[in-house]
Amino acid sequence: QQDVPALSDVAAFPVGVAVGPQDLGGRPADLLLRHFDQVTAENAMKPVVIQPVEGEFDFGPMDEVVDVAAEHGRTVHGHTLVWHRSTPDWFFEAPDGSPLTDSPQDQALLLERLRAHTQTVRDHLAERYGDANPVRSWDVVNEPLDPEEADGLRRSRWYEVLGPTYVAQAFQVAREVLGPDVVLYVNDYDTDAPDRRRALVRLLLDLQAQGAPVDAVGHQMHASLRTDVDRVATTLDAVAGLGLRQAVTELDVAVSASDERLAAAPTDRLAQQGDQVRALVQVFAARDLEFVGVWGLYDTRSWLRHWPEDRPFEAPLLFDDDLQAKPAFWGFVEAAQGA
Ligand code: G3I
Repeated sequence: QQDVPALSDVAAFPVGVAVGPQDLGGRPADLLLRHFDQVTAENAMKPVVIQPVEGEFDFGPMDEVVDVAAEHGRTVHGHTLVWHRSTPDWFFEAPDGSPLTDSPQDQALLLERLRAHTQTVRDHLAERYGDANPVRSWDVVNEPLDPEEADGLRRSRWYEVLGPTYVAQAFQVAREVLGPDVVLYVNDYDTDAPDRRRALVRLLLDLQAQGAPVDAVGHQMHASLRTDVDRVATTLDAVAGLGLRQAVTELDVAVSASDERLAAAPTDRLAQQGDQVRALVQVFAARDLEFVGVWGLYDTRSWLRHWPEDRPFEAPLLFDDDLQAKPAFWGFVEAAQGA
């Protein structure tokens, strides 16, 4: 791969990647260390993994990921603290096993659990890495938006117990526990869709009005060949206009539509995917982003291989099943170089 430039060399912005323990040895690790400045744990830093049972912490997978970053001078984007899909059920259960309600006592209990979880993670990182702790940012609240709701907020268990100010409260806890230097993100998907953009801007204005300590917006960017790049640009400009920092946190570009199952490897679409990645990265490179992260090292490792059902020919990442650079990789490189 001598003729393949390193993404971290060609891009003016940090380039990140989501990884798991299975990516940290052999050829995947070589690919990771050659191209990427930053890592996100795809699953290993989710509360359901770290604290599946109250008070029983498992830092094994997280340590593997963060150790590699620390050893090689890479940063880590923490993912995540509050996400309805990765909060273990016990967070929402009273000591007698009944579901938490929106009573003041239950609200205090839920917030206390968030605080205790965040403190334990912080203390573990401080003990293990000291001043060299590579975790510089966190997705504090992931996927709070639902444009179908009048207030634009998803009716998750967090919302049901704490009410519409739960996002602001979560940021308050995160700031108090993690300190002033950690960059605190709200992260969501399809932020380019006009209804979701409106819900996002509304939430951000609300958070600012409440004085919530939110620093940055993460745009997941689970894109497709149909994603309208102009809409992506409009959303990035809207967020910049609010004075917030922002990043692309989970980039991938699906080659099949959501209602379609490819019967064979999508060779004809890989060139289109390259064009789409080039167009997207041109938009990113022209703006001030904290980082651009891709959601997986190589196609075999993508979540889209298994969601919403098994899709053996989905190929949404920059490197193929054999870890070779795809047209998508070259589209990224050309756009990052300003070609
Ligand atoms: O590790 C277990 C395995 O032991 C078990 O046999 C198997 C049975 O289902 O499950 C495995 O865990 C799965 C885990 O991925 C590891 O592969 C979970 O079921 C599965 O739900 C989990 O999916 C992850 C998903 O988030 C939900 O947490 C995906 O890998 C991960 O890519 C995806 O990432 C999310 C971001 O966190 C937020 N934004 C959207 C993005 C894509 O959905």
